[in-house]
Amino acid sequence: MRKFGLIGYPLSHSFSQKYFTEKFQRLGITDCRYELYPIEDIAGVKALLQDPELCGLNVTIPYKQLVIPYLGGMNDVVREIKACNCIKIANGIAMGYNTDVAGFRESLVRKLQPFHNRALILGTGGASKAVEYVLRKLHIEYKYVSRKGGEGVLSYAEVDEEVIYSHTLIINTTPLGMYPKVDECPPLPYEAIDARHYLFDLVYNPARTLFLRSGEQRGAAVENGYDMLIGQAEESWRIWNRAD
Ligand SMILES: NC(=O)c1ccc[n+]([C@@H]2O[C@H](COP(=O)([O-])OP(=O)(O)OC[C@H]3O[C@@H](n4cnc5c(N)ncnc54)[C@H](OP(=O)(O)O)[C@@H]3O)[C@@H](O)[C@H]2O)c1
Repeated sequence: MRKFGLIGYPLSHSFSQKYFTEKFQRLGITDCRYELYPIEDIAGVKALLQDPELCGLNVTIPYKQLVIPYLGGMNDVVREIKACNCIKIANGIAMGYNTDVAGFRESLVRKLQPFHNRALILGTGGASKAVEYVLRKLHIEYKYVSRKGGEGVLSYAEVDEEVIYSHTLIINTTPLGMYPKVDECPPLPYEAIDARHYLFDLVYNPARTLFLRSGEQRGAAVENGYDMLIGQAEESWRIWNRAD
Protein backbone atom coordinates (compact mmCIF):
# COMPACT_ATOMS: atom_id res chain seq x y z
CA MET A 1 0.00 0.00 0.00
CA ARG A 2 1.26 3.51 -0.88
CA LYS A 3 0.12 5.87 1.85
CA PHE A 4 -0.43 9.63 1.48
CA GLY A 5 -2.01 12.08 3.88
CA LEU A 6 -2.47 15.49 5.41
CA ILE A 7 -0.86 16.86 8.56
CA GLY A 8 -2.29 19.86 10.39
CA TYR A 9 -4.20 20.68 13.56
CA PRO A 10 -7.10 20.65 14.00
CA LEU A 11 -8.28 18.79 10.88
CA SER A 12 -12.05 18.89 11.01
CA HIS A 13 -12.93 18.67 7.34
CA SER A 14 -10.44 18.08 4.56
CA PHE A 15 -10.77 18.92 0.89
CA SER A 16 -7.59 16.92 0.17
CA GLN A 17 -8.75 13.63 1.67
CA LYS A 18 -12.05 13.78 -0.24
CA TYR A 19 -10.30 14.83 -3.45
CA PHE A 20 -7.68 12.08 -3.42
CA THR A 21 -10.03 9.34 -2.18
CA GLU A 22 -12.44 10.14 -5.04
CA LYS A 23 -9.55 10.35 -7.50
CA PHE A 24 -8.27 6.89 -6.49
CA GLN A 25 -11.79 5.46 -6.86
CA ARG A 26 -12.39 7.15 -10.23
CA LEU A 27 -9.08 5.96 -11.69
CA GLY A 28 -9.28 2.48 -10.15
CA ILE A 29 -6.12 3.07 -8.11
CA THR A 30 -6.40 0.39 -5.41
CA ASP A 31 -2.88 0.49 -3.95
CA CYS A 32 -3.07 4.08 -2.61
CA ARG A 33 -4.75 5.56 0.48
CA TYR A 34 -5.03 9.17 1.68
CA GLU A 35 -5.31 9.57 5.49
CA LEU A 36 -5.74 12.47 7.90
CA TYR A 37 -2.99 12.95 10.49
CA PRO A 38 -4.21 15.56 13.01
CA ILE A 39 -1.00 15.87 15.04
CA GLU A 40 -1.20 18.14 18.09
CA ASP A 41 2.52 18.88 18.04
CA ILE A 42 4.74 19.10 14.97
CA ALA A 43 7.27 16.80 16.71
CA GLY A 44 4.76 14.01 15.93
CA VAL A 45 5.78 14.19 12.27
CA LYS A 46 9.08 12.47 13.15
CA ALA A 47 7.38 9.14 13.99
CA LEU A 48 5.03 9.50 11.02
CA LEU A 49 7.96 9.83 8.60
CA GLN A 50 9.29 6.44 9.82
CA ASP A 51 6.26 4.64 8.32
CA PRO A 52 7.77 2.63 5.42
CA GLU A 53 4.49 2.80 3.48
CA LEU A 54 4.19 6.60 3.64
CA CYS A 55 5.08 8.17 0.27
CA GLY A 56 3.77 11.71 0.55
CA LEU A 57 2.16 14.31 2.78
CA ASN A 58 0.35 17.57 2.36
CA VAL A 59 0.86 20.13 5.10
CA THR A 60 -1.67 22.67 6.30
CA ILE A 61 -2.21 25.23 9.07
CA PRO A 62 -0.35 25.60 11.43
CA TYR A 63 2.61 23.53 10.18
CA LYS A 64 3.67 24.92 6.78
CA GLN A 65 6.69 26.66 8.35
CA LEU A 66 7.16 24.50 11.45
CA VAL A 67 7.65 21.32 9.39
CA ILE A 68 10.79 22.64 7.65
CA PRO A 69 13.32 21.50 10.33
CA TYR A 70 12.01 17.92 9.91
CA LEU A 71 12.76 17.79 6.18
CA GLY A 72 15.79 16.03 4.71
CA GLY A 73 15.85 18.52 1.83
CA MET A 74 13.73 21.12 0.07
CA ASN A 75 13.43 22.76 -3.31
CA ASP A 76 14.37 26.39 -4.01
CA VAL A 77 10.78 27.63 -3.64
CA VAL A 78 10.48 26.30 -0.06
CA ARG A 79 13.94 27.66 0.76
CA GLU A 80 12.90 31.09 -0.50
CA ILE A 81 9.38 31.46 0.87
CA LYS A 82 9.93 29.33 3.99
CA ALA A 83 6.63 27.48 3.59
CA CYS A 84 6.15 23.81 2.69
CA ASN A 85 2.76 22.27 1.89
CA CYS A 86 3.92 19.06 0.17
CA ILE A 87 6.42 16.38 1.23
CA LYS A 88 7.68 13.49 -0.86
CA ILE A 89 9.27 10.58 0.99
CA ALA A 90 11.61 8.48 -1.14
CA ASN A 91 14.59 6.34 -0.08
CA GLY A 92 14.01 7.43 3.51
CA ILE A 93 14.39 11.13 2.68
CA ALA A 94 11.58 13.67 3.17
CA MET A 95 11.82 16.41 0.51
CA GLY A 96 9.78 19.59 0.87
CA TYR A 97 7.89 21.40 -1.91
CA ASN A 98 5.33 24.19 -2.18
CA THR A 99 2.49 23.40 -4.57
CA ASP A 100 0.41 26.51 -3.68
CA VAL A 101 2.86 28.34 -5.95
CA ALA A 102 2.08 26.20 -9.02
CA GLY A 103 -1.65 26.12 -8.20
CA PHE A 104 -1.87 29.91 -7.86
CA ARG A 105 0.21 30.60 -10.96
CA GLU A 106 -1.79 28.27 -13.23
CA SER A 107 -5.06 29.77 -12.06
CA LEU A 108 -3.95 33.43 -12.09
CA VAL A 109 -2.51 33.49 -15.61
CA ARG A 110 -5.75 32.34 -17.31
CA LYS A 111 -7.30 35.82 -17.01
CA LEU A 112 -4.12 37.86 -16.68
CA GLN A 113 -3.70 40.72 -19.18
CA PRO A 114 -0.53 42.72 -19.93
CA PHE A 115 -2.07 45.77 -18.18
CA HIS A 116 -2.39 43.81 -14.90
CA ASN A 117 1.14 44.85 -14.08
CA ARG A 118 0.78 46.37 -10.58
CA ALA A 119 -0.75 44.36 -7.76
CA LEU A 120 -1.98 44.66 -4.20
CA ILE A 121 -1.58 41.59 -1.98
CA LEU A 122 -4.12 41.78 0.87
CA GLY A 123 -2.79 40.00 3.99
CA THR A 124 0.71 38.93 4.98
CA GLY A 125 0.19 35.33 6.16
CA GLY A 126 1.49 32.01 4.82
CA ALA A 127 -0.42 31.96 1.52
CA SER A 128 0.66 35.52 0.68
CA LYS A 129 4.27 34.31 0.37
CA ALA A 130 3.33 31.89 -2.44
CA VAL A 131 1.43 34.73 -4.16
CA GLU A 132 4.40 37.09 -3.79
CA TYR A 133 6.76 34.46 -5.26
CA VAL A 134 4.56 34.06 -8.36
CA LEU A 135 4.19 37.82 -8.89
CA ARG A 136 7.95 38.22 -8.71
CA LYS A 137 8.46 35.46 -11.30
CA LEU A 138 5.87 37.11 -13.56
CA HIS A 139 7.59 40.53 -13.13
CA ILE A 140 4.43 42.07 -11.69
CA GLU A 141 5.11 44.92 -9.25
CA TYR A 142 3.28 44.47 -5.94
CA LYS A 143 2.56 46.07 -2.60
CA TYR A 144 1.36 44.34 0.55
CA VAL A 145 -1.69 45.64 2.42
CA SER A 146 -1.80 44.70 6.10
CA ARG A 147 -3.76 45.59 9.24
CA LYS A 148 -0.36 46.09 10.85
CA GLY A 149 1.10 48.47 8.23
CA GLY A 150 4.91 48.73 8.45
CA GLU A 151 7.95 49.41 6.27
CA GLY A 152 6.93 49.32 2.59
CA VAL A 153 3.52 47.88 3.54
CA LEU A 154 0.26 49.80 3.11
CA SER A 155 -2.37 49.97 5.82
CA TYR A 156 -6.01 49.64 4.71
CA ALA A 157 -6.51 53.35 5.53
CA GLU A 158 -3.82 54.21 2.97
CA VAL A 159 -5.56 52.34 0.16
CA ASP A 160 -7.53 55.19 -1.37
CA GLU A 161 -9.14 55.49 -4.81
CA GLU A 162 -5.83 56.55 -6.35
CA VAL A 163 -4.09 53.38 -5.07
CA ILE A 164 -6.92 51.21 -6.42
CA TYR A 165 -6.84 53.06 -9.73
CA SER A 166 -3.11 52.41 -10.16
CA HIS A 167 -3.16 48.74 -9.04
CA THR A 168 -5.26 46.71 -11.46
CA LEU A 169 -4.59 43.30 -9.87
CA ILE A 170 -5.91 42.79 -6.32
CA ILE A 171 -5.36 39.47 -4.56
CA ASN A 172 -7.13 38.60 -1.32
CA THR A 173 -5.04 36.25 0.84
CA THR A 174 -7.00 37.05 4.02
CA PRO A 175 -9.79 34.77 5.28
CA LEU A 176 -12.30 37.68 5.09
CA GLY A 177 -15.55 36.58 3.45
CA MET A 178 -14.96 32.86 4.00
CA TYR A 179 -17.98 30.77 5.08
CA PRO A 180 -19.72 31.29 7.52
CA LYS A 181 -18.69 34.99 7.70
CA VAL A 182 -19.85 35.66 4.16
CA ASP A 183 -20.83 39.31 4.89
CA GLU A 184 -17.20 40.33 5.41
CA CYS A 185 -14.75 41.65 2.84
CA PRO A 186 -11.45 43.54 2.90
CA PRO A 187 -12.14 47.26 3.57
CA LEU A 188 -11.33 48.89 0.21
CA PRO A 189 -12.83 51.80 -1.80
CA TYR A 190 -14.55 49.41 -4.24
CA GLU A 191 -16.11 52.33 -6.14
CA ALA A 192 -12.70 52.90 -7.79
CA ILE A 193 -12.72 49.44 -9.38
CA ASP A 194 -13.49 49.26 -13.09
CA ALA A 195 -13.25 46.89 -16.05
CA ARG A 196 -9.44 47.06 -16.12
CA HIS A 197 -9.23 45.32 -12.73
CA TYR A 198 -8.68 41.64 -11.95
CA LEU A 199 -9.72 40.49 -8.46
CA PHE A 200 -8.41 37.12 -7.28
CA ASP A 201 -9.64 35.61 -4.01
CA LEU A 202 -7.82 32.64 -2.45
CA VAL A 203 -11.07 31.89 -0.60
CA TYR A 204 -13.21 29.34 -2.51
CA ASN A 205 -16.18 28.91 -0.14
CA PRO A 206 -18.43 30.66 -1.08
CA ALA A 207 -17.57 30.61 -4.80
CA ARG A 208 -18.40 34.33 -5.05
CA THR A 209 -17.24 36.19 -1.96
CA LEU A 210 -18.44 39.73 -1.26
CA PHE A 211 -14.96 40.88 -2.40
CA LEU A 212 -15.41 39.19 -5.81
CA ARG A 213 -19.03 40.30 -6.19
CA SER A 214 -18.02 43.91 -5.46
CA GLY A 215 -15.50 43.72 -8.32
CA GLU A 216 -17.75 41.82 -10.71
CA GLN A 217 -20.52 44.44 -10.32
CA ARG A 218 -18.07 47.03 -11.64
CA GLY A 219 -16.95 44.96 -14.62
CA ALA A 220 -13.72 43.52 -13.18
CA ALA A 221 -12.42 40.06 -14.07
CA VAL A 222 -12.65 37.76 -11.03
CA GLU A 223 -11.36 34.36 -9.96
CA ASN A 224 -11.83 32.39 -6.74
CA GLY A 225 -9.41 29.96 -5.07
CA TYR A 226 -11.04 26.72 -6.26
CA ASP A 227 -8.87 26.09 -9.33
CA MET A 228 -5.82 26.95 -7.23
CA LEU A 229 -6.90 24.31 -4.72
CA ILE A 230 -7.29 21.67 -7.44
CA GLY A 231 -4.02 22.82 -9.01
CA GLN A 232 -2.03 22.43 -5.80
CA ALA A 233 -3.48 18.93 -5.23
CA GLU A 234 -2.64 17.81 -8.78
CA GLU A 235 0.87 19.28 -8.52
CA SER A 236 1.36 17.25 -5.29
CA TRP A 237 0.25 14.10 -7.14
CA ARG A 238 2.72 14.82 -9.98
CA ILE A 239 5.58 15.33 -7.48
CA TRP A 240 4.75 12.10 -5.58
CA ASN A 241 4.71 10.07 -8.79
CA ARG A 242 7.62 11.42 -10.79
CA ALA A 243 10.93 9.60 -10.92
CA ASP A 244 13.21 12.04 -8.97
N1 LIG B 1 -7.26 28.31 -2.69
C1 LIG B 1 -6.23 27.71 -2.15
O1 LIG B 1 -5.68 26.74 -2.68
C2 LIG B 1 -5.68 28.27 -0.87
C3 LIG B 1 -4.37 27.94 -0.45
C4 LIG B 1 -3.89 28.50 0.74
C5 LIG B 1 -4.70 29.34 1.49
N2 LIG B 1 -5.97 29.62 1.07
C6 LIG B 1 -6.84 30.51 1.84
O2 LIG B 1 -6.16 31.75 1.98
C7 LIG B 1 -6.49 32.35 3.23
C8 LIG B 1 -5.22 32.69 3.99
O3 LIG B 1 -4.51 31.53 4.31
P1 LIG B 1 -3.14 31.64 5.13
O4 LIG B 1 -2.64 30.26 5.29
O5 LIG B 1 -2.23 32.68 4.51
O6 LIG B 1 -3.69 32.20 6.52
P2 LIG B 1 -2.88 33.04 7.59
O7 LIG B 1 -1.45 32.63 7.65
O8 LIG B 1 -3.70 33.01 8.81
O9 LIG B 1 -2.86 34.55 6.99
C9 LIG B 1 -3.96 35.30 6.68
C10 LIG B 1 -3.58 36.78 6.72
O10 LIG B 1 -4.76 37.50 6.50
C11 LIG B 1 -4.77 38.68 7.30
N3 LIG B 1 -5.97 38.61 8.14
C12 LIG B 1 -6.35 37.63 9.01
N4 LIG B 1 -7.50 37.93 9.62
C13 LIG B 1 -7.88 39.14 9.13
C14 LIG B 1 -8.97 40.02 9.39
N5 LIG B 1 -9.93 39.70 10.27
N6 LIG B 1 -9.02 41.19 8.71
C15 LIG B 1 -8.06 41.53 7.82
N7 LIG B 1 -6.99 40.75 7.55
C16 LIG B 1 -6.91 39.58 8.19
C17 LIG B 1 -3.53 38.68 8.15
O11 LIG B 1 -2.58 39.58 7.58
P3 LIG B 1 -2.24 40.99 8.30
O12 LIG B 1 -2.09 40.65 9.76
O13 LIG B 1 -0.99 41.44 7.67
O14 LIG B 1 -3.39 41.90 8.06
C18 LIG B 1 -3.04 37.24 8.07
O15 LIG B 1 -1.66 37.12 8.13
C19 LIG B 1 -7.40 31.36 3.96
O16 LIG B 1 -8.74 31.73 3.75
C20 LIG B 1 -7.12 30.03 3.26
O17 LIG B 1 -8.23 29.16 3.29
C21 LIG B 1 -6.47 29.10 -0.09
